[in-house]
Amino acid sequence: MSKASLLCCAILGLLVLVHAKENKNIGFYELKRGDLRLNLTNYGATIVSLFAPDKHGNLADIVLGYDSIESYETDTCYFGALIGRVANRIGGAQFTLDGKTYKLPANDHGNTLHGGTKGFGDNIWTVGYHKEDSHITFVYNSSDGEQGFPGKLEVSVTYMLIEKHILGVKMTARPIDKPTPVNLAQHTYWNLRGHDSGDILSHTVQIFGSNITPVDDKLIPTGKLQPVSNTPYDFLTPKEVGSRINELPGLYDINYALDKNGKSYLSKDAVVRDPVSGRKMELWSNQVGLQYYTSGMLGDTKGKNGATYHKYGGIALETQGYPDSVNLPNFPSQIVKPGETYKHIMVYRFTAS
Ligand SMILES: *[C@@H]1O[C@H](CO)[C@@H](O)[C@H](O)[C@H]1NC(C)=O
Ligand SMILES: *[C@@H]1O[C@H](CO)[C@@H](O)[C@H](O)[C@H]1NC(C)=O
Repeated sequence: MSKASLLCCAILGLLVLVHAKENKNIGFYELKRGDLRLNLTNYGATIVSLFAPDKHGNLADIVLGYDSIESYETDTCYFGALIGRVANRIGGAQFTLDGKTYKLPANDHGNTLHGGTKGFGDNIWTVGYHKEDSHITFVYNSSDGEQGFPGKLEVSVTYMLIEKHILGVKMTARPIDKPTPVNLAQHTYWNLRGHDSGDILSHTVQIFGSNITPVDDKLIPTGKLQPVSNTPYDFLTPKEVGSRINELPGLYDINYALDKNGKSYLSKDAVVRDPVSGRKMELWSNQVGLQYYTSGMLGDTKGKNGATYHKYGGIALETQGYPDSVNLPNFPSQIVKPGETYKHIMVYRFTAS
């Protein structure tokens, strides 16, 4: 091959690469309203940043995240991502539905975590609707058999800023041809003092769940409910995150059965407050469960703007169904049938005082 044709090949190769990147159509999108500024990407329908005022009116970014799409592509922490088809763990990486057993990717100690090796948070979503500064919808069509799950599923998530200080999230999923389990979750790590401010151990947390779903050593629920009273899991009244964390194997990563008797209706599920900045976040949802994770497994991670995140750098409060519900018939069912629509509403209310 001549030098000229080699050069030509190289340029062509580069063009194809650039074109492929462009075709992927990944971008960042901003919503602005009142005191809030929210940055999102359609890669994983992810929350990238949220600027909110402290008690003096000073803005800080209170979400852990990355500067580049490349970092989101290699992320193993699920920063800010929209998780599905089934968030959380499925024991033994399989389940049986209508007499048929479905095998799933075993990406977590023999179990399936957060939808498999390439869950919804690792896919490029389409921007469905973007209204002024206040409202964006991402849509994603999951195919029959994707990550082992049955049937086509049309998924959407809308992020909206409401009034001055409210972020609303509405997730929907419609099975097209087969019944399937659906359990979506928003996986943002919050640090109300600022994403780069260190640990969250002195934040206070309140969770309106009198029971947890206790787990085995691989974090699969036993199927029982266990009262939180007189345990380090008791956050029925506000307590510091770190107050009893040392009595656990060093971290919280547990599902609360919210006090709704397994029924789906909108209620206040959790309140987080940072005493230094005065920022407070209330979380409302229509879900029966809430995974409380205090990032005890977070290794040193390069984040936005030169920040490095460490263990206990953020709090994830993931409203959802109970983990492994597909294998535990006494847990509220996550099976959605064609003709039905799964709906998951979250309302975050940010104030400071
Ligand atoms: C959104 O976040 C990305 C990644 O940090 C950044 O490159 C982009 O400039 C941000 N967009 C806005 C409008 O702030
Ligand atoms: C998803 O599939 C439906 C048809 O089932 C189609 O109308 C829609 O445009 C698709 N959306 C995307 C983002 O591909």
